Amino acid sequence: MKNKYLYINTMGCQMNVYDSSQIQNHLAPLGYKPTKELSQADLIIVNTCTIRAKAEQKAFSFLGRLAPLKKANPQLIVAMGGCVAQQEGKRVLSRMPYVDLVFGTQAIARLPKLIRRIANERCRLVDTELSLELKPEDIIAGPFPKSDTSAFITIMRGCDNYCTYCVVPYVRGRESSRRPEDIVTEIRQLTDKAVREVTLLGQNVNSYGQKEGLCTFDQLLERINDIDALERIRFTTCHPKDLSRPLMESFNRLGKLCQHIHLPVQSGSDAILKRMNRHYTRQQYLDKIVQLRQTCPDIAISSDIIAGFPGETEADFLETVSLIKEVGFDGLFAFIYSDRPNAPSVRFDGKISEQVKKQRLQTVLKIQEQVSRQKNEALVGTMQQILIDGPSRSDGVKDNSNMAIPGGTGLQWCGRTKSNKIVHFKTQIDLDSGNQILTGSLMDIMIEKALPHSLWGRQA
Ligand code: 5AD
Ligand code: SF4
Repeated sequence: MKNKYLYINTMGCQMNVYDSSQIQNHLAPLGYKPTKELSQADLIIVNTCTIRAKAEQKAFSFLGRLAPLKKANPQLIVAMGGCVAQQEGKRVLSRMPYVDLVFGTQAIARLPKLIRRIANERCRLVDTELSLELKPEDIIAGPFPKSDTSAFITIMRGCDNYCTYCVVPYVRGRESSRRPEDIVTEIRQLTDKAVREVTLLGQNVNSYGQKEGLCTFDQLLERINDIDALERIRFTTCHPKDLSRPLMESFNRLGKLCQHIHLPVQSGSDAILKRMNRHYTRQQYLDKIVQLRQTCPDIAISSDIIAGFPGETEADFLETVSLIKEVGFDGLFAFIYSDRPNAPSVRFDGKISEQVKKQRLQTVLKIQEQVSRQKNEALVGTMQQILIDGPSRSDGVKDNSNMAIPGGTGLQWCGRTKSNKIVHFKTQIDLDSGNQILTGSLMDIMIEKALPHSLWGRQA
């Protein structure tokens, strides 16, 4: 079979990263090998995100830049996948005349058939069918990366929560979980290679397996914790309304489970939480934080905030600010509210001006920067076990604050603490031999310096 080259541009969240690896796995039997060179590609796939309007614009602007390539090589196949494809369907074909295929979030397993048809018949196709359940054959495990230390594993897809701002239930369909045995097998295959850490992915991992009567999420974690060669388990995302006691207790019980939870709060105002359809109050959220910290005092907690949801008054916003201060998150992702087609909030009144939304975002980010710095400074002088990802960037490691790491370039390595903080450090081991020795191993590092978004340390 003649080698053909596949270029994938992955936009958006970790789910899309996993889906892109699935796209590669499903197309490998057709002879497609991955390439990083657009000009070498026989097939270009853009795996898109539509969570906010900006993400959608990015997808169309990338596709827009492909027109000359297609002109120069009419045999080139151009495909749009992922969430924008699911949302826009055949509209993409009229908007982008050189796109050959639009495939939705659940069409990945059908890609070989679709691509074959396009190659043979030179037709243009759309497949945005959504089904109710995730079938085991939808996912092909492997071929696995040889050297990656950390991997994502989708354990469930879709979402049944219908937060009013969110497009996910419409573009990823109903919630459906994979069988535990399939997940465990896939992780074992990954640890047979170099993988030592997995991040389990789902829109709301707490409700894993419930619909299908499989097992609970904490029971799944227990099974994964028993995989010998695995060192660390992470997961994301958790809906606060469903955070259970057994899951909280797992952080103490399971040695490999990293003591970090991402628990998106979205707003600190009860009125806004209600309009968002989040099914918890500010107090209930804060109670869960107290319980979590009582159960596991060292747990790192991160969160998401939306600034300027329709109807958010200055008083509502101040409630969010006070919640952020009260909790003291270890990390915070803050977003400007963005109207999405299909999401109910597009029809809500009380829309906030762009200027006010931006101001609120800046306020939140500023407060969080102080909190993150304090949290990082509290770690100076402590010993942290880190899982080494590999060499730090060769251009001299910089923190987002643009402050150069002490020591400049050299034998710099990078890894993460159990609480998911990035640590840069130096060793005497040279990069070539070190690449094999250090990457994927655990090392105790003495933290010497805190930067706003990362830490700097030395081998203990
Ligand atoms: N506008 C802004 N942010 C959004 N998010 C989801 N939908 C929107 C939207 N319409 C944010 C939420 C979610 C994160 C993944 O993206 O904070 O937790
Ligand atoms: Fe979107 Fe809410 Fe589902 Fe998260 S829980 S994916 S925010 S609908």
